[in-house]
Amino acid sequence: MIRGDSTDYDLLEKWTKGFDCQGYKSCEIGVREGLGSKIIMDNVINNYIHVGVDPYGNLEYQHYDHTGAYTCDYTDDMRDTMLNDFKPYRNQGRFTLCNMTDTKFMNDTEHRHSTFAFVHFDGPHMTKDVITEAVWFANRAAPHTRFVFDDHSKYEMSTIAHVLTFYGFRTKEMGDNKCLLEKQ
Ligand SMILES: C[S@@+](CC[C@H](N)C(=O)[O-])C[C@H]1O[C@@H](n2cnc3c(N)ncnc32)[C@H](O)[C@@H]1O
Repeated sequence: MIRGDSTDYDLLEKWTKGFDCQGYKSCEIGVREGLGSKIIMDNVINNYIHVGVDPYGNLEYQHYDHTGAYTCDYTDDMRDTMLNDFKPYRNQGRFTLCNMTDTKFMNDTEHRHSTFAFVHFDGPHMTKDVITEAVWFANRAAPHTRFVFDDHSKYEMSTIAHVLTFYGFRTKEMGDNKCLLEKQ
């Protein structure tokens, strides 16, 4: 069973159901066991491919603006289980894992020229990291792109939403844990 570690998955399902990716890519930063990516892949339409970005490797890093660094349970065994669970999607060319950090992904020439229609931000939860990701993806956003941010109360979401207004994004809906922004 593919599990998640958060809440508001019902909202993620609502915001992805029938959402037209117009032949562009979708992405999830921070895949873990894969529930977020599974919901996206099962519900969007016309998706070129769904890209998961996650280094796994049980890294020690600072998770929040005001905490120290620590490890969680994001092991390579978890990655291998997720890859096995996602075999049907991988075999159909609907999912690919970029087994690397967000920073490496964003600096990788292979991804710089991609366009994304849907992004779930659920990796690092420090404001500076989420802003960096949001601006990178905003510069590669298709018309009507949707951004979903998980755990928005853990970082400065209002600042991030304000930055994204300069890229044409507006906040559409706020859940307790996830929120949806859409490019106008
Ligand atoms: C909160 S979990 C993701 C939960 C998942 N989206 C779900 O819905 O179940 C956070 C994930 O972010 C990954 N992560 C940590 N640092 C990262 C980074 N710099 N770039 C991308 N992913 C990272 C961790 O390995 C972990 O799997």
